[in-house]
Amino acid sequence: MDRLLIHGGTPLSGEARVSGAKNAALPLMCAALLTREPLQLANIPHLNDVSTMIRLLARIGVQASLDDRLGVELHARSIAEPLAPYELVKTMRASILVLGPLLARAGEARVSLPGGCAIGSRPVDQHLKGLARMGAEINVEQGYIAARARRLRGARIATDMVTVTGTENLMMAACLAQGTTVIENAAREPEVIDLANCLTAMGARIGGAGTDVITIEGVESLHGAAHAIMPDRIETGTFLVAAAASGGAVRLRGADASLLDAVLGKLREAGAEITVEPDAISLAMRRKPHSVNVRTAPHPAFPTDMQAQFMALNAVAEGTAVIVETIFENRFMHSLELQRLGADIEVSGNTAVVRGVARLQGATVMATDLRASASLVIAGLVAEGETVIERIYHLDRGYECIEEKLAQLGARIKRIH
Ligand code: EPU
Repeated sequence: MDRLLIHGGTPLSGEARVSGAKNAALPLMCAALLTREPLQLANIPHLNDVSTMIRLLARIGVQASLDDRLGVELHARSIAEPLAPYELVKTMRASILVLGPLLARAGEARVSLPGGCAIGSRPVDQHLKGLARMGAEINVEQGYIAARARRLRGARIATDMVTVTGTENLMMAACLAQGTTVIENAAREPEVIDLANCLTAMGARIGGAGTDVITIEGVESLHGAAHAIMPDRIETGTFLVAAAASGGAVRLRGADASLLDAVLGKLREAGAEITVEPDAISLAMRRKPHSVNVRTAPHPAFPTDMQAQFMALNAVAEGTAVIVETIFENRFMHSLELQRLGADIEVSGNTAVVRGVARLQGATVMATDLRASASLVIAGLVAEGETVIERIYHLDRGYECIEEKLAQLGARIKRIH
């Protein structure tokens, strides 16, 4: 298993390019299931989750061809087997995103139940409840969701909590339903807007994406389209925090500051100077960072996917920070590993109190999930001496060439096979 070796203590400096967003790419790829014509996606990130999604779609009968310029063409001429097997769903929960499109296009789907994961129990009851409201017959048998519907019907659906993939699944299913669907309490994440834009280019009739009420007027069929995937706001945020924690100065090309208001606000509060250009963000940190309190909540509030990285920043900041995680019940696993590097963190329920220390010290740590891994990389970059991060397959799921990009920014980092 690969590991990362980091010699800490070098401030990041220079330029790097932000990739396409993982959490936009995965639902967008599933949208290809809604039409018999090809869907062309540009700016696709090279990630293990994207490869897993290509494998899953291929099993279902979708032809995928990648070009060498970050493009993929997905062609679901026909649905061979509307199945998402356990082996694939267990490695990537986002596989649940084939459920809505398969049901809408093929009238049936069998998708393994995702089960628990490292950051909490993460049920999919809201996805199922919404599809049932649209007339699907849903049974859970032998660990699989078995869903059927001759043709879905438009419905008014109010989800109990804001769910990103739940909103995306229902929005995709509603595109081919008979009549109008209204999703209330919809997720407002930029990735939902990106998906709505692509679906609209495919002929869907969607209003309100980006607000908490999305209205979808069903159509008979969708057609092919070409769409460029939005930049990854979490990758952008991760590199900015790494630069801030290391006292560096970086410029990230291909980044979109309008997607990152809450994160940029917190970085400024920590003392960073941020310059925004239409297609780039620069950050310079000329002092030791101040502690910043963080409370995660659905967009446009502070994203849970940036919580772990800010814990690493706070670990070396001046002062004490309180971090409250309101989205997932078990997303502080990184705190134990950060403590192994010398961080002073006390966790009680969904709250962590982080007292900044003068320095962290390198050690061997273990990645537990994607964003937890990112926080360990940031901590390793600022720690004295050598940090080894194990189980980095989590990082490879969601960060494209992270060690190459960080090395480009001057970090002393390498992958050990
Ligand atoms: N929830 C339910 N029932 C449901 C759906 C969600 O109880 O049917 C709960 C979840 O357990 C959680 C909360 O609602 O407590 C919000 O979960 P949500 O459904 O929004 O999460 P998700 O759609 O499964 C996406 C991202 C995650 C990101 C969350 C929150 C993708 C592929 N994944 O997950 O990304 O943390 O939204 O913003 O879009 C990551 O990239 O590292 C990652 C975990």
